[in-house]
Amino acid sequence: MKLDDLCGLLGARSFPSAQAREHPERDDVAATRTAVSAAVTDDEFLVDCMARELDLVESGVRRRGLTPFFTMPDLGIRFSFGYWRPGSTPGPHEHTAWTITAVCRNELEVLTYDREESYRRQMLIPKNRFEAPAGRSGFIYEPCIHNPRNNTDRWSLSFHVTSPRDGERLVDEERSLPVLDEFVDRMLADRGHPYDGVLAARQRQIVVRQVAQLLAPVGSPQAGILLNRCHRAGTAVTRRFIERLRGGDAVTGCGDRSRTLVRTHPELALSHRYDEKSGLVRLGAETPEGWVEELAMSRVARDALAFAARTNAFDVRQLPGSLYEDERRMIAEALEDSGLFTRDTHA
Ligand SMILES: [Fe+2]
Repeated sequence: MKLDDLCGLLGARSFPSAQAREHPERDDVAATRTAVSAAVTDDEFLVDCMARELDLVESGVRRRGLTPFFTMPDLGIRFSFGYWRPGSTPGPHEHTAWTITAVCRNELEVLTYDREESYRRQMLIPKNRFEAPAGRSGFIYEPCIHNPRNNTDRWSLSFHVTSPRDGERLVDEERSLPVLDEFVDRMLADRGHPYDGVLAARQRQIVVRQVAQLLAPVGSPQAGILLNRCHRAGTAVTRRFIERLRGGDAVTGCGDRSRTLVRTHPELALSHRYDEKSGLVRLGAETPEGWVEELAMSRVARDALAFAARTNAFDVRQLPGSLYEDERRMIAEALEDSGLFTRDTHA
C-alpha cells in the first residue's frame, strides 16, 4: 500500500472539499480509520510516507506541533507524523474536528476528558484512559479534549490524518478553558527569536534519527535510498547513529562533509563562562528565557569555545587551543549537534 492508495480511498468517499463548511459523515471517518489501521502495519506504506517526511526535513520548514508532510489539495486532509520522546506529552488539548491517530512504533497512552463538564467546571475532568500499542488507531469525530503521552522509556512514532477544519474555533463556543487557551497560544506563538533556529535544528535531527530508525530494519531498496538521505541530512552524531543502525556499514555516496561551521542564526548571541571550581568551560546561548547552558567541556576546550562564541563562521581547523585533532573534531561535532552551528553545505 502507498500513500496514493489511502488518498484514493479518501477521494472515493464523500469527504467535503477543503473549503466546505460541513464535516464528513461519521461512516467516512470510521472507514478511513480502518484503512489507516492496515496502512500503519504495512512497511511499504510507512516508507512511502517517510519519503515525503524527508522532503519536509530537507525543505528546512520549522515544525510546530504536527506538521503535515502532505496535504490533499482538493480535500485539505493533512497527513503527519508525531515523534514522542520517552515521557513526553504535548499537554491536554482540544480537537475541534475529526482526526485519526495511529501508533506506528512503540506505544502511547491517551487520557480523555469530559468536555462538557470540563468547560462547566473550568477544570479538566478525566473521563477515559486508553492504551494505544503499535498498530492501534483511534478517531475523534465530535470535538474532544485529550492528552496523549509516551509513558515508556523508548521513542514512539504516531501517524495522523487530520481534518482541514481541526483547530478552528467553534462558532457556537463562547466558553474558554485556560489550560486549552495556553496550549493554543504556545502552538501559535511566533517568537521570531534567533534561538528558535537552534530548536528547529535539533528537532530536525530528532526526526532524521527517528525516520532512520524506522527505515533501517525494513531492508527494501526504497528504504535504503531514504536511509542515505537521512545520512546526508544528519550531523556527525546522527551519521554515526545511522551507521550503527546499519550494523556498522559505511553509507556510500554521501561525499565528504564541509569543514565550515556557521552559526545557526547570525544574531544568535553566544557566550562562554569558565568555572574555576569545576574546571569546566560552559557555552551558553541567549534565549527568550535568558542565558541557557548548551555545552560544558573540560578546560582544554576553553579557547575553542570562546572562539566559537565570538565567531559566526569558521573552518573547524581554526578552533584554537592546544588540542589534538580528535579533540578539535569532537568540539566541532558537539557544536554542530547542539544546533548552535550547522555545517555550511555550500562551502
Ligand atoms: Fe491530539
